[in-house]
Amino acid sequence: MNRTERFLRACRGEPVDRPPVWLMRQAGRYLPEYRAVREGIAFLDMCRDVERAVEVSLQPLELVGTEAVIFFSDIFVPVSGMGIDLDFRPGPVVAEPLRSLAAVERLADPDPRESVPYVFEILRTLRRELEKHETPLLGFAGAPFTLACYLVEGQGSRHFSTLKRMMHREPAILRALLERLTAMTVAYLNAQIEAGAQAVQLFDTWAGLLAPDDYREWVLPVHRRIAASLDRERAPLILYVQDGGHVVDEMIEAGPDVVSLDWRLDLADAARRAGSRASIQGNLDPTALHAPREEIFRRVRAIAEAGAAARGHVLNLGHGCHPDTPVEGVRAFTDAARALAEPPASR
Ligand code: CP3
Repeated sequence: MNRTERFLRACRGEPVDRPPVWLMRQAGRYLPEYRAVREGIAFLDMCRDVERAVEVSLQPLELVGTEAVIFFSDIFVPVSGMGIDLDFRPGPVVAEPLRSLAAVERLADPDPRESVPYVFEILRTLRRELEKHETPLLGFAGAPFTLACYLVEGQGSRHFSTLKRMMHREPAILRALLERLTAMTVAYLNAQIEAGAQAVQLFDTWAGLLAPDDYREWVLPVHRRIAASLDRERAPLILYVQDGGHVVDEMIEAGPDVVSLDWRLDLADAARRAGSRASIQGNLDPTALHAPREEIFRRVRAIAEAGAAARGHVLNLGHGCHPDTPVEGVRAFTDAARALAEPPASR
């Protein structure tokens, strides 16, 4: 079974020999080779530089043995095409946060293939390269709620209280913004699939900040609409929410192929809830990559055992790989996944 088959089968809940493995933020600052390519260039310029973006996307394959490639970019790349002035210092900072209906109505509604053509050039180039390695190519987008968190707040925040205030006091503005971002996200992900992405992940990092009722009102309908509007025959959908233990049922209800979960919840319980409806992805705490190799192996075996209750399981972290992660910890993580196919005596 090659890596592409294993990955796609796990997403769709078909039998596999063992779970495939990759990491969120697997191409990043923990790799000296990434830092070398990134040197002397601004982050957003690097996202536009097809050659460098392709190079760092591929680095984790050889360097740490991951089994899927996510293209190098950021969730804010397509937002620039809507006329939003945003920079990274080092996190995203919006020049003029969106706080009025007029500002939302002024947003452009571009075809992403025209506003960010380099994204699709990166994907097409990677797909050609990855065919040789029989390795799947993943596309991604930020989910509308998470994008809105930053666009309204203006930057990262612990509680995104400006966004939450808008939700309660000026719901029409937030509704209009989510509407625009949802249309953009659907067009953007479908264009990625057209350019060669074999699965796509929707990152709703901050949706877990909401109480279940608010999540059902503000987030679930958006996820449902995206899930229903993508070319799922060609690419399964993975839905990620950080700190979403209280909304696992709602994540499943949205109808993705895979729900991607963090380390704060019991994976076996989530697997049982998902039943035949969705596969699961996760969920090692990224800081556990600092542990000794044997401990990482032990934890991967435990996660795989919990994941075995699901119709399919993709091994991953519960959130992105941190910049201070030891490379040998990441290598141990992917080696541990491969060791799952071996008989217990040889472990
Ligand atoms: O997973 C991958 O390897 C694919 C590429 C990817 C990046 N960011 C690269 C990146 C993806 C899928 C993201 C998603 C992303 N970006 C999210 C959602 C998932 C999550 O991690 O919660 C969010 C909220 C962002 C916004 C973002 N981008 C922040 C807050 C930051 C700065 C934080 C930091 O670590 O300094 C970024 C920058 C960023 N995006 C880097 C990378 C590799 C670091 C850039 C650098 O300085 O080299």
